[in-house]
Amino acid sequence: MHFSHIFTIISLGLAVHAQTCWENLICTGPLDTAFPGQWEANIFAPDCRTVFPVSILSLANASVISKWPGSAQISGNGSALVFDFGKEVGGLATVSYAAQGSGALGLAFSEAKNWIGLWSDSSNGRFQAGDGAIYSNFSASGNYSYTTDKAHLRGGFRYLTLFLITNETASTIDINYVSVEIGFQPTWSNLRAYSGYFDCSDEDLNKIWYSGAYTLQTNSVPVDTGRIFEASGWNNSGALSNGSTVIVDGAKRDRAVWPGDMGIAVPATFVSIGDLDSVKNALQTMYDHQNKDWSFPEAGPPLLQQGSDTYHMWTMIGTYNYLLYTNDTEFLDKNWDRYTHAMEYIYGKVHQPSGLLNVTGVRDWARWQQGFNNSETNMILYHTLITGAELATWQEDTTGLAQTYTSRATNLSTAINKYCWDTSYGAFKDNATDTNLHPQDANSMAIYFGVVAPSSASAQSISSRLTHNWTPIGAESPELPNNISPFISSFEINAHFVAGQATRALDLIRRSWGWYLHHPNGTGSTVIEGYLTNGSFAYRNSRGYSYDESYVSHSHGWSAGPTSALTSYIVGLAVSGRVGSTWTLKPQFGDLEYAQAGFVTSLGKFSAGWNVTGDGRAYSVWWKVPEGTVGKVTLPPLPSGKTGKITIDGKSFKNKSIRKKEGLTFEIGGGNHSIIVVSK
Ligand SMILES: *[C@@H]1O[C@H](CO)[C@@H](O)[C@H](O)[C@H]1NC(C)=O
Ligand SMILES: *[C@@H]1O[C@H](CO)[C@@H](O)[C@H](O)[C@H]1NC(C)=O
Ligand SMILES: *[C@@H]1O[C@H](CO)[C@@H](O)[C@H](O)[C@H]1NC(C)=O
Ligand SMILES: *[C@@H]1O[C@H](CO)[C@@H](O)[C@H](O)[C@H]1NC(C)=O
Ligand SMILES: *[C@@H]1O[C@H](CO)[C@@H](O)[C@H](O)[C@H]1NC(C)=O
Ligand SMILES: *[C@@H]1O[C@H](CO)[C@@H](O)[C@H](O)[C@H]1NC(C)=O
Ligand SMILES: *[C@@H]1O[C@H](CO)[C@@H](O)[C@H](O)[C@H]1NC(C)=O
Ligand SMILES: *[C@@H]1O[C@H](CO)[C@@H](O)[C@H](O)[C@H]1NC(C)=O
Ligand SMILES: *[C@@H]1O[C@H](CO)[C@@H](O)[C@H](O)[C@H]1NC(C)=O
Ligand SMILES: *[C@@H]1O[C@H](CO)[C@@H](O)[C@H](O)[C@H]1NC(C)=O
Ligand SMILES: *[C@@H]1O[C@H](CO)[C@@H](O)[C@H](O)[C@H]1NC(C)=O
Ligand SMILES: *[C@@H]1O[C@H](CO)[C@@H](O)[C@H](O)[C@H]1NC(C)=O
Repeated sequence: MHFSHIFTIISLGLAVHAQTCWENLICTGPLDTAFPGQWEANIFAPDCRTVFPVSILSLANASVISKWPGSAQISGNGSALVFDFGKEVGGLATVSYAAQGSGALGLAFSEAKNWIGLWSDSSNGRFQAGDGAIYSNFSASGNYSYTTDKAHLRGGFRYLTLFLITNETASTIDINYVSVEIGFQPTWSNLRAYSGYFDCSDEDLNKIWYSGAYTLQTNSVPVDTGRIFEASGWNNSGALSNGSTVIVDGAKRDRAVWPGDMGIAVPATFVSIGDLDSVKNALQTMYDHQNKDWSFPEAGPPLLQQGSDTYHMWTMIGTYNYLLYTNDTEFLDKNWDRYTHAMEYIYGKVHQPSGLLNVTGVRDWARWQQGFNNSETNMILYHTLITGAELATWQEDTTGLAQTYTSRATNLSTAINKYCWDTSYGAFKDNATDTNLHPQDANSMAIYFGVVAPSSASAQSISSRLTHNWTPIGAESPELPNNISPFISSFEINAHFVAGQATRALDLIRRSWGWYLHHPNGTGSTVIEGYLTNGSFAYRNSRGYSYDESYVSHSHGWSAGPTSALTSYIVGLAVSGRVGSTWTLKPQFGDLEYAQAGFVTSLGKFSAGWNVTGDGRAYSVWWKVPEGTVGKVTLPPLPSGKTGKITIDGKSFKNKSIRKKEGLTFEIGGGNHSIIVVSK
């Protein structure tokens, strides 16, 4: 269903309610989540596709001056009130007002509180004239209703400033009604119908998990709302993909498909909102716009930026992730030929004698330096080859591709370890010749993608070295100095978890995502694109660049790493075979007392949880997964370090290996199971 169609339906509904009983608008019946429970209270998504402000702020000092609905008058030229929706929203705004005199009602939008005012935060482009405001002009006293036109859909904001521009000293406006028709997640009538959930003993982690999930919803948008660059103002009417819904990088901007961002956004989508239609359409648009030399664009249309070896490979990794979660073999059949050509295109950049990839498509996530045999790119190639081999197997390829890709991966891993490892420092360098820079991206990916084994001395050294970049509000990227990237930090937390360093991973989640969650100027409901180590929102505004600070996106799916990591590594439940035909359960307690999570695939519901006693002398683990699946369970060692007595589904037995550092691993079939471990 296309956005225009949905909007018509909602508008009609709204017209009936407008100005009369709108505050009583009833939108949805009971929640429709796959796993009902008290954790649903943490869902940020509204009940209703029509949303209203919750309070009014003074423009002068940004303090709350009244609740809304209530009375709201602006009087005289330049007077303004700020309507706060209480969380990130996005879509088409409607304002009804009674005006005296003549003039214009201005509407200006902002995600962060810093940029409330008569001028919107920036979404169009750093080098354009600025977003400014949109106006509802009136030439005489009367009652007016104004709705944003489709091109001016505002994809993401929390604050709407309404102001009066007039030449008449006696002119006033009484605001009677303000609403937004949510534009995102266009195919869902109930925005709270999540297929996944998460709950643990730390309320901040719960909110962070759900802010990642809500961010992904705001990034799943109607396919005709892509950003078109304009000399000034903004225009969100570009064609993004076929289908009805597509995942883009950010709510406010860029509003384009960015496959690298999907490396974090898609695993997080799978465990939370479960909207894989948006993922399929995003990937298909990349295949539809593949170039003649078989390279993929860096970003989808209308942007269609080119020239990125890393983002080329992220489309390929995205294909694997999508197949893992859906087993959509029709999609793979349709695109397999293009995928294999894309593999030859990128592998053609591997040169002897080093056996490393030489980057010539130098665009990337935002790191300052890219090119030559950059380590991050080689880590991504390793993962591309490993996942490519798996795809070839799933595709039942008989030409030996799986073997070819696997042996290339093995050789590449050897080359990376030989040329890029810095023995004296105990982490990877930025490339084979670099001596000083030990980047956050390549080192995090080395562990996450398995270029080093999780329990190896190298992995443990990298995990420890990464903490040297930490500041009180997050990890500074050495490859993007002065900046904190929650995108690359998402890889870092995954790396610490894979290395078995759960407490370290939780520490970084709390420092970085916790800082933003509690920031008084933030959205309080989504995850931010990036920020500076000095605590300002001016991501990338350093090294002589002077970007418009307000351009930063405050709802960016590439920062949703904690959402998948908490499910996959704290609860420890993850799919390893297509649609969960095989799965793993490997809880890590960190400093938590309990945790549970669940998600859905075409096979059914998967969920698991655990409790650990305060003194660490006992714990219990349970899981409920579809019959016919096969799992690998790894029980953690007792936190007390003692030997345990294990009771599985009511039957007890002793096993000394629970004492080992790696815990106890065994295979088990699907169904409902529970285990209790008590120290002897
Ligand atoms: C903020 O401004 C409003 C008027 O716009 C005023 O009533 C209020 O006292 C101000 N608050 C502070 C803390 O200055
Ligand atoms: C009205 O206020 C706006 C915004 O502050 C200002 O730019 C403009 O010059 C003012 N117009 C008049 C006639 O004072
Ligand atoms: C104010 O007056 C100027 C000059 O006559 C005119 O150009 C402008 O459009 C008027 N503004 C409004 C908001 O009526
Ligand atoms: C929030 O924004 C206001 C207005 O721009 C600024 O004065 C204040 O320092 C900011 N607060 C924080 C904690 O950054
Ligand atoms: C509406 O009012 C704004 C602000 O005064 C002005 O910039 C704009 O040109 C006006 N638009 C029309 C169509 O008169
Ligand atoms: C706006 O409508 C209300 C009733 O709906 C009416 O009482 C009021 O006079 C109208 N205002 C103007 C300026 O026409
Ligand atoms: C938005 O862009 C489209 C496509 O270029 C163009 O047709 C339309 O006129 C623009 N609308 C606005 C309001 O700028
Ligand atoms: C829609 O699909 C057609 C046919 O594959 C393709 O040519 C076109 O570029 C696609 N549109 C977008 C916006 O991706
Ligand atoms: C390696 O990449 C650099 C750009 O980073 C380029 O100048 C050089 O020609 C490339 N070498 C080969 C062998 O392709
Ligand atoms: C290797 O990495 C360093 C640090 O990013 C960079 O300054 C240098 O230019 C790179 N070397 C080459 C040959 O690209
Ligand atoms: C995936 O789909 C294919 C083709 O429909 C089917 O043969 C295969 O069994 C499926 N695999 C899983 C794990 O569901
Ligand atoms: C903790 O244990 C209790 C008692 O066995 C159980 O009811 C509860 O569901 C467990 N919680 C989690 C998160 O697993």
